[in-house]
Amino acid sequence: MTLTIPDPALVLLLGPSGAGKSTFAAAHFQPTEIVSSDAVRAMLTDDPGDQDASVEAFHVLSILVEGRLKRRLTTVVDATNLRAIDRKRYRRVAVRNGIPTVAIAFDLPPGLYHAHNSRRPDRVVDDLVVENQAGRMAQALADLPAEGYWAVHVLREADIGAAVDVVRGVSSAG
Ligand code: CTP
Ligand code: MG
Repeated sequence: MTLTIPDPALVLLLGPSGAGKSTFAAAHFQPTEIVSSDAVRAMLTDDPGDQDASVEAFHVLSILVEGRLKRRLTTVVDATNLRAIDRKRYRRVAVRNGIPTVAIAFDLPPGLYHAHNSRRPDRVVDDLVVENQAGRMAQALADLPAEGYWAVHVLREADIGAAVDVVRGVSSAG
């Protein structure tokens, strides 16, 4: 499977905890290209799962995204991105900087989010939280086509473990 993204691009990963967003980002992007809500929460609170810091974490992420897009550097937002308002804010920053936005959504059976979470070495996310996120994911998938992305790529169960290539094929000069 080949996912084409413009170069540079803003890439919004979407999916519940355990979807494999950070794993995917690490496999396909340079560490400095990835801005991660968990990493920022950890810096703010010593606990990547601390949801209390969400407002500040979002603010810091926005500054990082703005600073990178202004420099025309491909940027991946590694967060659940399940709230339409968050996606809209990131897209607005991209539009302001003339950078196209691509969504990469992980649409997996809920059982797989739980299975991944239960065997992760870093931190365990509460089952109820994941369940709630899985419900919001369905809504997000329904909303994505009308949100105005350069492309919406959806990864499904059959794609997990298969060879997925990210090709930075198209120049988005402008
Ligand atoms: N994992 C897996 N197979 C995949 C993807 C992920 O076994 N195809 C495992 C990872 O090794 C990790 C766990 O599932 O131990 C969670 O994956 P991660 O990429 O960290 O998920 P995220 O979507 O980033 O979860 P979060 O939103 O909580 O950061
Ligand atoms: Mg992650």
